[in-house]
Amino acid sequence: MTESLTIRRPDDWHVHLRDDEMMRGVVPYTARQFARAIVMPNLSPPVTTTEAARVYRERIRAAVPAGVAFEPLMTAYLTDATDGADLARGKAEGVLTAAKLYPANATTNSAHGVTDIDKLSGVFAAMENSGLVLCVHGEVTASDVDVFDREAVFIDRHLTRIVQEFPGLKVVLEHITTSEGVAFVEGAGRNVAGTITPQHLHINRNAMFAGGMRPHAYCLPVAKREQHRLALRKAATSGSGRFFLGTDSAPHAKEAKESACGCAGIFNAPFALESYVQAFEEEGALGSFEQFASLAGPAFYGLPVNEDTVTLERVSVDVSETLDIGGTSVVPFHAGEKLSWRLSA
Ligand code: DOR
Ligand code: ZN
Repeated sequence: MTESLTIRRPDDWHVHLRDDEMMRGVVPYTARQFARAIVMPNLSPPVTTTEAARVYRERIRAAVPAGVAFEPLMTAYLTDATDGADLARGKAEGVLTAAKLYPANATTNSAHGVTDIDKLSGVFAAMENSGLVLCVHGEVTASDVDVFDREAVFIDRHLTRIVQEFPGLKVVLEHITTSEGVAFVEGAGRNVAGTITPQHLHINRNAMFAGGMRPHAYCLPVAKREQHRLALRKAATSGSGRFFLGTDSAPHAKEAKESACGCAGIFNAPFALESYVQAFEEEGALGSFEQFASLAGPAFYGLPVNEDTVTLERVSVDVSETLDIGGTSVVPFHAGEKLSWRLSA
């Protein structure tokens, strides 16, 4: 039995670090595991310009514990009013790594998102020319589309066309949750990739209804049927360079999730690598973990791989029921469970 696993230090290609006290509370968890992270811009108000991203980056850097090397990679939130020239400037100045497409009202703080994707052609062209990556929350929001079908319908209605019209645009279909998402990424060219979260490797939609309503298993896109979870496990462990790690760690106060209208989001940053590696071990695929966690993402983004390494050891760890994050009680993913791996200090 493998007792320890050493790999190049991973990056997190999708994380919510929030702002203020919550940000100062969660940044150390991400910085402890990852060298870099693609930081989501869905603050309130959202980070929509290069200048706002530059200032937010400084706030994040100030929250990184002394002696820890962690680089936030910034994204701009696309709106109906986005200026493609500003994005191109942000990329050229080394401020922006990607821009994020949230269809309006798809998820937390997305009310300012894009209402008509067809009108973004000029912005996509500017991104294609400047090499700025497009990160996509791939769900339609039309109320006549079943919530479990929203990813597949988004691919059919929008993503297929975006990828055809802008073949040089690098596109990440984020937090894929369906076999349709996997098939889309596999069938697209090398400018298209997908990220996969730990929760979508571990839970299917039954987890939200196990003996009652389980708000801590609710995130968006919502977990789907078991057949989809199995397709995601196959993709993540396949060794393909087109699927890589993106936690979508999304902290919310315990009370905001345990409410009549609970927030979407799972806070997995405290044990993200441990959670992923457990899924890889269950698939007999520890040998492809480094590709997924540390190699495929940098290759897609055109960035160097990290020089240092991390070691995971086979040690049982107890995940707390709640964590105090800057004075707010937050329930982590795997709360109250035991995980069988631990990241060495
Ligand atoms: O579950 C989610 N939570 N999905 C998202 O897309 C946003 C995130 C959040 O910001 O809480
Ligand atoms: Zn997210």
